[in-house]
Amino acid sequence: MKITVIGSGYVGLIAALGFGIKNNKVICVDKDKEKIKSLKKGIPIIYEKGLDKYLKKCIEEKKITFSTDIKKGIRESNIIFIAVGTPALNNGDVDMTQVKEVINDISKYINEYKVIVNKSTVAIGTQKYIKRMLNDKGISNEYFDIVSNPEFLREGKAFDDFFNTDRIVIGYDSEIAKEIMGKLYKNFNKKIVYTNPETAELIKYASNGFLATKISFINEIANLCDEIGGNVEDISYVLGLDKRISPLFLNAGIGFGGSCFPKDTQALVKIGKKYGVAFNVIKSTIDVNNKQRIIPIKKLLNHYKDISGKIISVLGLTFKPGTDDIREAPAIYIINELIKNEAIVKCYDPNVSRKIKEIYPQIEYCNTPYDTFIDSSCAIFCTEWDEFSKLDLFKLKDKMKEPLIIDGRNIFDYKDVKKAKINYFAIGRGYIYK
Ligand SMILES: NC(=O)c1ccc[n+]([C@@H]2O[C@H](COP(=O)([O-])OP(=O)(O)OC[C@H]3O[C@@H](n4cnc5c(N)ncnc54)[C@H](O)[C@@H]3O)[C@@H](O)[C@H]2O)c1
Repeated sequence: MKITVIGSGYVGLIAALGFGIKNNKVICVDKDKEKIKSLKKGIPIIYEKGLDKYLKKCIEEKKITFSTDIKKGIRESNIIFIAVGTPALNNGDVDMTQVKEVINDISKYINEYKVIVNKSTVAIGTQKYIKRMLNDKGISNEYFDIVSNPEFLREGKAFDDFFNTDRIVIGYDSEIAKEIMGKLYKNFNKKIVYTNPETAELIKYASNGFLATKISFINEIANLCDEIGGNVEDISYVLGLDKRISPLFLNAGIGFGGSCFPKDTQALVKIGKKYGVAFNVIKSTIDVNNKQRIIPIKKLLNHYKDISGKIISVLGLTFKPGTDDIREAPAIYIINELIKNEAIVKCYDPNVSRKIKEIYPQIEYCNTPYDTFIDSSCAIFCTEWDEFSKLDLFKLKDKMKEPLIIDGRNIFDYKDVKKAKINYFAIGRGYIYK
């Protein structure tokens, strides 16, 4: 099928390549000229496992083209995916500016029937809103159908999630659009759930709200473990053995971040407010998370009282491993607190991005984890990159001025920490004093 994907960020680019791999002809459009220039040359603009390989394959096999020309994108395909950003506004509402821009462009260039598919996570009622917007611009209903097809992929595992998704959700109100979408997804051989557009839009928020709640729940259990001498990892393991619960999203740590959970939980509360539903569970999930992400600072100040002038190493800047995305990363909140407390920050991330250097030009970015430990008084681990679990703790200790680890992701084995005789705090696993 001929598909255009508008917006080639974390979702749009993966979806565009995914549909290319599934033997469709895809045009990937973005208004960012630099991104398109780079993608045309086969150079990935984000870090995601498998991206180089799929990008190369789709370009070589002529399954995908990249363009800034939205008119061409709209005219040359019969299915138009919208995958632009929908960040949170300061008041928690969804910022629909980018979606509206795209609809405006579609209204200018649409010349025959198209299925317009919304993949972005959008305010409830967006499907109807887009219809009204196009009608108001003089485009009659026979030129389009609007479908809601939320995306559930996780950064770091994006391709695997895209191809092996547990479910495909199609919110539709036209049989023709339903049939076209069914045909598009047929060779995925995955469960397709057809429903109305409002339900599809809400499914995405319900899903993210529930997963975020699992994380905040286990984090509160972890905090209690730290008080009573319990071990949250044993608790997570046992909970996960219960098929009604599932073991996923039960790792205690310094909370969730990223471009989805924080904004989607806020949006759910706002949606609830609009329709008179309190969403107290989600409000608490957000509240617990806001406190959880700065727990390392609490532990640090508890240990030292004053950290001004001390070198503090921050390891892992992305909101999770396997990505270069720093949006709402706990590390950002931790660095802010360290700067406020006049500590000297040295950091390391295997995927350190230009973006974070722009936000914090004053901090030191090291090329290896060991460089961050030199003369440091504490190493705070914020992201569970694989390479961190392989660090030599004796070498780490030798380089540090005062050996203290605050392990925000429960990366290290207690036995190894004890052997190295390092002061160590984790999340929900008590602490070790050498
Ligand atoms: N990132 C995730 O893990 C994830 C997972 C599921 C759903 N989502 C949702 O998917 C949507 C996209 O998220 P993302 O992380 O890919 O965002 P992103 O910011 O990485 O990408 C958005 C892209 O859209 C482009 N864009 C903006 N306005 C445009 C326009 N008018 N014309 C053409 N291009 C335009 C931007 O230049 C950017 O490249 C959001 O609604 C998000 O909530 C994200």
